[in-house]
Amino acid sequence: MKLSSSGHVRKYASVNYLKNEPKKPDVKTAIPGPKTLALTEKLGKIQNTGAINFFVNYEKSIGNYIVDVDDNVLLDVFTQISSIPLGYNHPRFHDVMKNSQNLSHFINRPALGIFPSADWPDKLERALLSIAPKGLKHVTTMACGACSNEQAFKLMFTAYQRRKRGEPTEEEKESCVYNKEPGCPDLVILGFDGAFHGRSMGCLNVTHTKWIHKMDYPHMDWPCAAFPKLKYPLEENVEENKQEEARCLEDVRRKIDEYNARGKFVAGLIVEPIQGEGGDNSASADFFCQVQAICKEKGVFFHVDEVQTGGGSTGTIWQHEQWNLPHPPDVVTFSKKMLTGGFYATDELLPREAYRIFNTWMGDPTKVLLLEEMVKVIKDENLLSQVKVTGEYLRSNLNELQVNLDKLW
Ligand SMILES: Cc1ncc(COP(=O)(O)O)c(C=O)c1O
Repeated sequence: MKLSSSGHVRKYASVNYLKNEPKKPDVKTAIPGPKTLALTEKLGKIQNTGAINFFVNYEKSIGNYIVDVDDNVLLDVFTQISSIPLGYNHPRFHDVMKNSQNLSHFINRPALGIFPSADWPDKLERALLSIAPKGLKHVTTMACGACSNEQAFKLMFTAYQRRKRGEPTEEEKESCVYNKEPGCPDLVILGFDGAFHGRSMGCLNVTHTKWIHKMDYPHMDWPCAAFPKLKYPLEENVEENKQEEARCLEDVRRKIDEYNARGKFVAGLIVEPIQGEGGDNSASADFFCQVQAICKEKGVFFHVDEVQTGGGSTGTIWQHEQWNLPHPPDVVTFSKKMLTGGFYATDELLPREAYRIFNTWMGDPTKVLLLEEMVKVIKDENLLSQVKVTGEYLRSNLNELQVNLDKLW
């Protein structure tokens, strides 16, 4: 079978992205190798090591290639957990570290919500607002993906209540301290089957992938709607996929109505543009536009979780930009390749009181320093268009493989 190829990809395939980047994998031992096994035993005396693949030599890892402690050179197509934005040891990141003007940021970690440095607003502007999803001009940094989603849920709950009752009453302020209504209302977030939004207690209510994340933990009764299971190749299953998406949209509608009718009001809906943990499932742009339309109709806030898809790997910084939504999402969360966690939000979702969305660090300025550089590198090296070309090449060859699968055996 002959795979189609593009001149552009061939040209780039022969050029190393970074100087000294290996040209190909080089596997010298079994994996895990002897050094990894010895280190796993050592670490195993301190903590659970069940998830460790291998120990890494981060000095030797370059660009797309990760090198383990046994000197095996591997092509890291998954970029760890979808979380390395520019490959290993990018020289521009080294420059950020070498710049003595950045030193105080590394030495003095601020509690950003209370004592930010003078350059913090400019840093947010350059690193995060310069690439903000269209229509969203507020951003707050957080530590990780799960805690960004948790804060986004709180934003949606508060805004939902604010719409309903305006300013909080004294009774609400007193009752909430003891987990009682009306201060703690019966509100829910709707998630999708196969979704992954993190492992914290709130996020687990909308995470529906594997038992290992959920078993033994008490749960809130939050709704879960069907997510499309599309048939491939898409071009050959247009009608069937349309029906599948219609079935799921109907389920979204039904779950919102059902929960609202039970007095468990649906304040928000969270969705991944491409389900990552759930198995690389996605849907058409039209599906997501319709989900947003249902949210608008039902007074439900629309939360797009771009923790896995954000940062450029789909050819746009945010995958949802490819949906051409008529309105911006109410909240977009990010982490992983963005190097810092956080969320973008609309005016309506912004908290009105201090300490509503708060923790000690509120993110880490040193990660934002690197993010600022990452944004520049993406622009300087035109990486988004390269992602599009390379992604199209990969996709078309995978399609061809799929069609010709029977000839391979
Ligand atoms: C879509 C999505 N949301 C949230 C998370 C949770 O992020 P974190 O592991 O940083 O808490 C992940 C992690 O894989 C994810 O893929």
